[in-house]
Amino acid sequence: MRPWAAPEVTSWNRLPMHAIRRAGLSLDGEWRFQLLPSPQARLADRWARTTVPGCWTVQDFDDIHGVGDLPQYTNVQMPWPGPPPAPPDANPTGVYEREVTIPAGWQDQRIVLHVGAAESVLLASVNGADVGLGKDSHLASEFDITDVVRPGERATIRLTVVKWSDCSFIEDQDQWWHGGITRPVLLYATDPLYLRDVRVTAGADGALRADIEVGAAEPGWHVSGHLDGHGELAPGADPASVSATVPGVRRWSAETPELYDLRIRLHRADGEVTDETRLRVGFRDVRIEGPDLLVNGARVLIRGVNRHDFHPVTGRVVTAGDLRADLETMKRFGFNAIRTSHYPDDPVLYDLADELGFYVIDEADIESHGHAREVAGDLRYRPAFVDRVSRMVARDRNHPSIIMWSLGNESDYGAGHDAAAAWVRQTDPTRPLHYEGAIRRDGWDGGKTVTDVICPMYPSIAAIVNYRGRDRPLIMCEYSHAMGNSNGTLADYWRAIESEPGLQGGFIWEFYDHGLLQRVSDGRPAGVGAYASGVAAPGYRWAYGGDFGDVPNDGAFCADGLVFPDRTPKPAMFEHRELACPVTMEPVEGGRVRLRSRRHFTGLADLTAQWVLTTADREPRVGPAELPSMGPGESATMVIPEGMAADGEAWATLRLAAGGTELGNPQVCVRRESRGLLVRAGAAQGGTPVEVDGQGLLAHPLLAAAPVLSLWRAPTDNDLLGGIAARWDDWGLSGLERKLIDVTSEEGRTVVRAQYGPVRHEQALSPLSNGGVLIEETAVLPEELTDVARVGSVFETARPLPRAEWFGRGPWETYPDRATAPVGRYAAATDTLFTPYLRPQESGGRNDVRWFTLTEADGTGIVIHLDQPRQVSVTRYRAADLAAAAHHDELVPRDRQVVHVDAAHRGLGTASCGPDTLPAYLVGPGTYRWSWTLRTVAAT
Ligand code: GAL
Ligand code: MG
Repeated sequence: MRPWAAPEVTSWNRLPMHAIRRAGLSLDGEWRFQLLPSPQARLADRWARTTVPGCWTVQDFDDIHGVGDLPQYTNVQMPWPGPPPAPPDANPTGVYEREVTIPAGWQDQRIVLHVGAAESVLLASVNGADVGLGKDSHLASEFDITDVVRPGERATIRLTVVKWSDCSFIEDQDQWWHGGITRPVLLYATDPLYLRDVRVTAGADGALRADIEVGAAEPGWHVSGHLDGHGELAPGADPASVSATVPGVRRWSAETPELYDLRIRLHRADGEVTDETRLRVGFRDVRIEGPDLLVNGARVLIRGVNRHDFHPVTGRVVTAGDLRADLETMKRFGFNAIRTSHYPDDPVLYDLADELGFYVIDEADIESHGHAREVAGDLRYRPAFVDRVSRMVARDRNHPSIIMWSLGNESDYGAGHDAAAAWVRQTDPTRPLHYEGAIRRDGWDGGKTVTDVICPMYPSIAAIVNYRGRDRPLIMCEYSHAMGNSNGTLADYWRAIESEPGLQGGFIWEFYDHGLLQRVSDGRPAGVGAYASGVAAPGYRWAYGGDFGDVPNDGAFCADGLVFPDRTPKPAMFEHRELACPVTMEPVEGGRVRLRSRRHFTGLADLTAQWVLTTADREPRVGPAELPSMGPGESATMVIPEGMAADGEAWATLRLAAGGTELGNPQVCVRRESRGLLVRAGAAQGGTPVEVDGQGLLAHPLLAAAPVLSLWRAPTDNDLLGGIAARWDDWGLSGLERKLIDVTSEEGRTVVRAQYGPVRHEQALSPLSNGGVLIEETAVLPEELTDVARVGSVFETARPLPRAEWFGRGPWETYPDRATAPVGRYAAATDTLFTPYLRPQESGGRNDVRWFTLTEADGTGIVIHLDQPRQVSVTRYRAADLAAAAHHDELVPRDRQVVHVDAAHRGLGTASCGPDTLPAYLVGPGTYRWSWTLRTVAAT
């Protein structure tokens, strides 16, 4: 028998799934271990040691059999050619063994072995007797071991985990492949009369009902329930249920995560309590009415993110502490929803979602991406489909945070899905269903048997606006692919979502960059000790597909998250936070603004606010602001405080926070610049003519390389995978040779004309009375250059200049289509402007910059003024340096700053998986004119 190659076998002797969580005797920690080359290989006499939970693919242990199994990353393709369901012969198999003394107090109890998760097939034996088999890498397996152990005596537990199996074909999610036991292992004991399961429904009207299943019933048993703040529950007509109606119930929502403690007890006939369980209940309703998904009657917007189980050192083992920190980060950045892509998470995640307030789409562990068609029609896999979906529902149904069940991901659509959906609809009619595969196959009007929402992946804005969720809510299960420097047009998506009926939000793909910490010297996964925060420490790097010699692999496509592997938020997180800010603001007449609350259930009493008044010539002024009281969705006006300079541009920003956490910076422009930025900067012409060399290049003591034309950027992942950078290569944009045409001079103005391939460029250099240089440039892009990265100037400073200040958007990195950051005056260490995306690429940009300085610590350096708000970047790398490196650790910072000042810069879009940027953010043919001044500044 080879159960790892038999999809029709989903388990043997495994206990039915239930929602009750039990503590017990933890078996986590050190186990004996051998990694075999295949499940049929023989054990050696010698054992290694390892830690449970853990993925052997990233653990250090004595590899006695020389299996050498390291992480492998594939997206769609399977690591071996197939067809399903056969695993390959080379099939790493971990054998874990340890002793445990069964507590003497467990005499006459029922004893259960609980294995939190093992990938992908688990075979358990105790004292040499087989006790059961379980499949599904992301749900627990439990086995009754009462008959094979003796309380007070030692028992030997053996867990055999087979890595590749028939299950691998339905666990073909886009992530690293690992092997091991990834969640806690424990033993627990119950009375023979025990609570087998508790199912709770708790509605927004305060009606609560708990249905109880009892194991090994003996006559006369009964149950009782107690709800904190309410009291005893009433026994139902059915002895296995209790209920209550809670008047004035505090409803659960993501904004108001109100939970009540519920205790359920099981009694013998004489009243003795034999078992007890506690859970936290949230009263709420989820309903779909026409094109609206309603939570407690309110049409909430889903500001979601897709989340995998990921850790850069342990692979897939995450602790309760990791989970809490990550969910708190999501909350801080305005997320209110999580899709558990693409499998059920650790039970702790749902507790945290209940407690912190998230709407969750709980997704079953089914993804047959590489062989989707075959598997969807394969009868042998039908039991697995129903098994995986139903076990998830049975485990998680008591969580108020879960608002929808998802049947899985990217598995085409077949009768197995219909069967699973039927099971859920019968068992839990309280929640809608979600399955993208059905609308992918049958279109946005189809798939109604298995999905109650239209849940496309990566649709364009035009597509969702056109569709507007005609008869079902449209919630994108994935959108805005966060690979590298990305999430362009997120604000445009949200403008559509917030204004179009039927559009109710979506889930960004995804939360983490799945970079594994790797020691560069020997290519091994790094141990926990090497885990530094920030960019991987020297000698280490964030590895992606192929870095462990894994073949086949899908490269850096796993580095597509909103946070770095160490959980540092990327700039796109801040963009999201601004878009999700609880208050919006727009200007109205009379020096006032209109505020509107984005909240659905609560007021704004928890928020604090400050005004920041930013003007062209003065330091920003910060002062207290008193928010008007506003109920959910309400508007109110507010007066902008007086005291801004009399002319020049002026911006009023409301800095919002809750409990010290910044929540956003809504901003209005109070006044535009009327004189022109360069005039304001005092750029009067006059002085001795500017010096140029024989090539017509500006000679300047503080510049190591004079300003020249730049049309290219180091391709972002979107540029590369979207095929955009390939066109730039065709046009030769990365290495356009500059050919001087002529240098002429008139009234102190030196005009340098040059040709860069097909592009004509003119640069006029004039001295300024303040000692600076005025640089006026024109570039003419011919028709064939339909889509370039940028049109602008690039130069290099003579020294690194560690301090930067600017007036523009910030403080975080911004690009034309990811530019919701407030306009302000910012200062930063120059080196921190750069964002270390895993695969080096264009990075560090700041949008709408009016002026900036780059200086030494003593204040000497340069100041640059721009004629209009423009895109600027300052890094220690040339675009070519970035483009040549595959990993961040390969970059060697130059001892200078490479400065780009762009007349126009292309948006980022999300073309690595999904739509490119919008036409408005493209840079195409035509004539571009831009002017700027460069001046040295003295010590301050
Ligand atoms: C989706 C898929 C995700 C991930 C993403 C690209 O098609 O559901 O698992 O592969 O694309 O990063
Ligand atoms: Mg996939």
